[in-house]
Amino acid sequence: MKTIVCAIQKGGQGKSMLCTHLAFLAAEMGKRVLAVDLDSQGTFSRNLAVQYDRQAAPAFGLFKGAHRPALPLTLTIKTKGSIAAYTGDRELVAVDESPALQPQALRTSLAAFAGDFDVCVIDPPPTLGKRLAAALIAADFVVMPFVPARESVDGLGDLMETIELHKQEHNPNLQVLGLLPNKVNSRSAAERRIMAEIAKAAPGMLLPMHIRERTSVSGAMAESRPVWAVHGGQSQRLAAEETRSACAHILKTVFKK
Ligand SMILES: Nc1ncnc2c1ncn2[C@@H]1O[C@H](COP(=O)(O)OP(=O)(O)O)[C@@H](O)[C@H]1O
Ligand SMILES: [Mg+2]
Repeated sequence: MKTIVCAIQKGGQGKSMLCTHLAFLAAEMGKRVLAVDLDSQGTFSRNLAVQYDRQAAPAFGLFKGAHRPALPLTLTIKTKGSIAAYTGDRELVAVDESPALQPQALRTSLAAFAGDFDVCVIDPPPTLGKRLAAALIAADFVVMPFVPARESVDGLGDLMETIELHKQEHNPNLQVLGLLPNKVNSRSAAERRIMAEIAKAAPGMLLPMHIRERTSVSGAMAESRPVWAVHGGQSQRLAAEETRSACAHILKTVFKK
């Protein structure tokens, strides 16, 4: 089982959107996908399925060791593979508050499923806290979606330091796939300046693609579908192409290793 985490300590950057599309694409490819939603808001869970039993497989259980089997999701699209989930809810806040719950516990719990799934996608909450640490300790790959705006970019240095720290101390095999610009508005000169600054400050870290800001992307998430499975015009088709090619690029690297 290959484990991917989409990490950035700010909300609204596209973590849940990217996790959702990675899970859908992997399932379309025939993979058995395990989705782990570590955000108490449950966005990843809701993006994947219109309806699911919230009590069946809470992600909180993964930190206590006494977890139930992952919940197989009923998807809005037909796939060769499948998606099962540990869903996010408010109980997860206890992970941050209780010193007895260790970040290493997630890795241990997930190791028990190594034979049941081909890929695990983890969506952490938007903070540099224990749940992000747990995800970074458990993952094989990390990808960082970000919106090219001043306030998002200011925290990227801290994020990369955090990733480096966990890599050195707990998870030497963690592979940093890079930064994925999301909600891009190519007409903005300020944005282009920010992208040039990042390319200079973090050479080689920018992935060779981006996803533009388009309403079809948020619309697809609201319908629990990938953007390539919603009907629309030219703008939807471009959004579908960009999102699919970003996910295909990531999954190609993940399954090559
Ligand atoms: N490329 C995009 N174009 C338009 N809306 C987007 C795009 N990426 C994400 N969104 C929307 O922005 C909001 C925040 O995205 P989300 O993935 O939930 O962020 P995060 O998980 O980082 O907090 C959601 O409503 C999502 O559907
Ligand atoms: Mg989210």
